[in-house]
Amino acid sequence: RPNNYHHQSGPPSRQNPVSPQALSTRRELYEKDFPLYKQPVEVGCFSLDSKRRFFNDSRQLRYYAEPDRNPNFDLRDGYKDRFIKRDDSVKEKLDHILRWILANRSKLMTRTTTASSCALDLNFVTWRGHLTKLLTTPYETRDGWLLAVTRFRGTLYISEVETEAARRERDNRTERHEEMMYWGYKFEQYTCTDNVQSLPDPGGVVNTNEAFCTVVQTRLADHKLLFSGEVDCRDKDPNAPAAPACYVELKTSAEICTPKQRSNLHRFKLLKWWAQSFLPGVPRVVAGFRDHEGVVIDVETFHISKISHLIKNEHNCWKPTVCMNFCSDFLSFVKHVVTEDNPGVVYLFSWEPRRDVTYSVHRDSQYSFLPHWYVEEITS
Ligand code: A3P
Ligand code: MG
Ligand code: MG
Repeated sequence: RPNNYHHQSGPPSRQNPVSPQALSTRRELYEKDFPLYKQPVEVGCFSLDSKRRFFNDSRQLRYYAEPDRNPNFDLRDGYKDRFIKRDDSVKEKLDHILRWILANRSKLMTRTTTASSCALDLNFVTWRGHLTKLLTTPYETRDGWLLAVTRFRGTLYISEVETEAARRERDNRTERHEEMMYWGYKFEQYTCTDNVQSLPDPGGVVNTNEAFCTVVQTRLADHKLLFSGEVDCRDKDPNAPAAPACYVELKTSAEICTPKQRSNLHRFKLLKWWAQSFLPGVPRVVAGFRDHEGVVIDVETFHISKISHLIKNEHNCWKPTVCMNFCSDFLSFVKHVVTEDNPGVVYLFSWEPRRDVTYSVHRDSQYSFLPHWYVEEITS
């Protein structure tokens, strides 16, 4: 058993086998060999339209239109009059992924499972964004998290719960912060097209309800994972490699004027960018660097496979192996803890910086997240 599990004191008994109570997040414990991470395979995709309606297809996929090196994009344009913002007080939990699973069930069943029960041949189902938070946990000093886990027909479903602190931040955003959150989407509008032949339309409306999501399957150590993540755009070359290798992640960041700022980009931002794109196998991030007035003055491409080399020059920097080993050990911890197979039971895992991961159990509570329509269709 890994020594980063903490157990309650007292001898274990046969009736009451030791169950780990907490998981350490100390970096040193995870400086081991890089765990097995199978090349992620895209097993499907889905789209959410301007009204956040689900479609089991790629209608919202956009194409990357390479900008000039010094494009002078004005990211503030349209904030007041051409912006439809998704209502982020609506908690969608895993609903879109569950809809995708029901529409694509046959793809997920092994020969044995098709013959017997109808269980999915998966250990974990979740959002890529939840896994990104797990990967960055050993280095996170500001934001904690809450992850609800339910075991249903052998599969563990992981769905995030907003922390009190995150809720307060969401309710108290400054006008400047609200506007800066728009900048990232505006950059996408300048660098994406709806069709292979068309040009970007900076005069259009930015609607953050719209999304294209890839669904990938992979394995981390002995955990079979299925997760979905939003994808910004793809290479427009029809000869580009198959998904997810043709996908491009877009980011904006403050312009870099000093070596200290470059170092901070490597030490803090590249960790988040790497984790988000490495998980689904997206090979490159295109970053737009903007000034304080929201004008993009420089564009740079980062290849995910080269980021680990870039950061080796930084003193006391993050390590990909720590991220992946922590995630793998967290998933093992969850498998050991979440034993009751019941769609109404939630094991709530919680973490705050400088603390261990702990959990509590909740029956038929506000935390239950598997909808009846899903439970009934899987059971029938
Ligand atoms: P930037 O990342 O360029 O700032 P993503 O890059 O993941 O596709 O997200 C697109 C944009 O959504 C981001 O652009 C940012 O503006 C906004 N965004 C993403 N995650 C966010 C978060 N946790 N809080 C606030 N805004 C977020
Ligand atoms: Mg995106
Ligand atoms: Mg992006």
